Amino acid sequence: MKKIVMANDHAAIDMKFKIKEYVESLGYEVINVGIDEFAHVDYPDFAYKACSIITSGEAELGILICGTGIGMSVAANKVKGIRACACSEPFSARMSREHNDANVICFGERVIGIETAKDIVKAFLDAKFQGAHHVARVEKIKDIEEGKYK
Ligand code: RB5
Repeated sequence: MKKIVMANDHAAIDMKFKIKEYVESLGYEVINVGIDEFAHVDYPDFAYKACSIITSGEAELGILICGTGIGMSVAANKVKGIRACACSEPFSARMSREHNDANVICFGERVIGIETAKDIVKAFLDAKFQGAHHVARVEKIKDIEEGKYK
C-alpha cells in the first residue's frame, strides 16, 4: 500500500483529520506526524518531520496543512529532495505532479473549504509525472538545490 505522510499545525487540526480519513478511504496508508490536539506550534518543525519521512523513503508523497499552506511549503522546499507546492485549486495540484514532479502538496484550512481540499488531494494523488521534456527542468531545480547551477 502506498504511504502518504501528513502534517499540520494548530491552524489545521480539523482539516487534517478530515483529509486523513479521505486519503485512507482512497486506499492509502497515512503516517500522521502533525499535532492532533490544540497547542501553539511552529509549522517548520512539522514540515521538516514530514519531509524527513519522504527523503528517508518511508513515504512517497506528503500533504502539509497549515493556516495558508504557505509556511509549510516554504519550509518544506528547504529540504533537499522536496518539491512542495501550495495550491488552492485542483488544476495546479495535478500540474505540480505532471510537470514539476512535486512530492508534497500544501494548502490552508483558513483559505479553502474541505471539499476543495479533497479535490486538490485527489488531483495530486491521481496525477503522474509526465517525464519527457520536464525531466531536464526538474534536473535544473536539483542543480540549483545542490549549488551546481551554472
Ligand atoms: C499560524 O498562525 C499560521 O501562521 C500558520 O498556520 C501558517 O498559515 C503559516 O504559513
